[in-house]
Amino acid sequence: MRIPNHVAIILDGNGRWAKSKGMPRTYGHIKGCENLEKICSMAKELGVKYLTVYAFSTENWKRSREEVDGLMKLFRNYMKKCLKISAENKMRVRVIGDPRAFDEDLQQKIKELEEFSSQFDELHFQIALNYGSRDEIRRAVQDMARDVKSGVLNPEDITEETISDYLDTKGLPDPDLLIRTSGEERLSNYLLWQLAYTEFYFTDVPWPDFDKEEFVKAIEKYNGRERRFGGVKEEEHV
Ligand code: IPE
Ligand code: IPE
Ligand code: MG
Repeated sequence: MRIPNHVAIILDGNGRWAKSKGMPRTYGHIKGCENLEKICSMAKELGVKYLTVYAFSTENWKRSREEVDGLMKLFRNYMKKCLKISAENKMRVRVIGDPRAFDEDLQQKIKELEEFSSQFDELHFQIALNYGSRDEIRRAVQDMARDVKSGVLNPEDITEETISDYLDTKGLPDPDLLIRTSGEERLSNYLLWQLAYTEFYFTDVPWPDFDKEEFVKAIEKYNGRERRFGGVKEEEHV
């Protein structure tokens, strides 16, 4: 089986999963977070080298105070647990998005995790937190404009690679496979630039139930696809 080098996941459906069990949305997030603890070792076992998950969007602040507070508590906890997960999987962790909106202590925990895990490179794990693709592009354009103003960057020299290098995903390959759980078929402001040629896989399975079997199913489906990148099928040349 051909294993995608970089898998991006939109972890969706925690709330609906909880509702279907007559439980509050926060319970869904607790279970979703437990699943997040398992996904890295699953990816490693399957041979995936880069894994990028969408955990909190720039739009998710619009949710109720109670729900946002619950999520922040879970993220704090998760950052601690992730130190262990990172050591177990020899995994480097990076947070993409704008962490400045978070409380100081959470920002500190993120920094600790990124620094601690920078020694590893067997798996690269990116967590999108307070991430929105349009916001990422906005910040990148601001940085580029500053560099042009200070003379570090010549506008004529701006290539597609230059733009990639100003994004939060600098240095990472583009995703080969995008998975969105729980039935919705939209990007919700995720990695708009990076997903230009990525294969999409949508499943009705909600995030708390997404296990290794489901992960394998997504990869199998990906294996049946023919990737084009704008060209024509190789066989058509001969
Ligand atoms: C995904 O589950 C987790 C976050 C966005 C934090 P949702 O909370 O979006 O669950 P649904 O989509 O409402 O079921
Ligand atoms: C996208 O899911 C964000 C994350 C999974 C973190 P949402 O549930 O917030 O997206 P919409 O509102 O359905 O588009
Ligand atoms: Mg959702």
